[in-house]
Amino acid sequence: FQPKVLAGKRLLITAGPTFEPIDPVRGITNLSSGKMGYAVARAAREAGADVTLISGPTALATPHGVTRIDVQTAQQMMDAVNRSIDGQHVFVAVAAVADWRVTNPSTQKVKKTEDGGAPRIEFEQNPDILATIAARTTLAGHPYCVGFAAESENLMEYGAAKRERKGIPLLVGNIGHHTFGADDNEIVLFDDQGHTLLPRADKLTLARQLISEISKRINSQSLF
Ligand code: C5P
Repeated sequence: FQPKVLAGKRLLITAGPTFEPIDPVRGITNLSSGKMGYAVARAAREAGADVTLISGPTALATPHGVTRIDVQTAQQMMDAVNRSIDGQHVFVAVAAVADWRVTNPSTQKVKKTEDGGAPRIEFEQNPDILATIAARTTLAGHPYCVGFAAESENLMEYGAAKRERKGIPLLVGNIGHHTFGADDNEIVLFDDQGHTLLPRADKLTLARQLISEISKRINSQSLF
């Protein structure tokens, strides 16, 4: 039995990897499976929230009762978030967004040449979706923002610093960098009070605990 701690609340969640095209048949992506973001969406729905999930390419089924919007690139994810953000109470950025995109993706398949040469690929930075939303100040769209961090070292130090840099009240650190694709995880929550460890468990269990932590925090804010 899950108490409906988020009844009447609207949550927007990003999940999965992004895919940045090089040409019509190739691209750059990462090892995110989307499992954690989808688990957060499912747990939020179980808790009674109205949930919109903006997802990069994954092989996962849409959680029951969740509205899903599929995107490929970071820019498309940014645009979809911008279109959906007004009126959301909570924004949880779980997606592993590519930091860079190919500057000029080819409209035709890039061909191998006889001389053994290889193409040069130029990159430019993608927008930081979470930081963009966290910086919004309009009344209609000032959700409680939650971020994720997957560091390969110094999580405790980098996690606290990343929370402040992104300007968000809550950051979830993945302990170890073997979480990609796995069914379980171990996380640490960073907020302005310090940090709280949520010991190793399957991603749905952790997602339910995270939703309970988020609901405690937003329900103690006079704004809601
Ligand atoms: O800076 P870093 O990529 O480690 O931050 C991770 C957090 O920021 C995650 O919550 C991720 O979803 C979000 N993010 C984003 N847009 C980006 C990069 C990261 O929303 N371009």
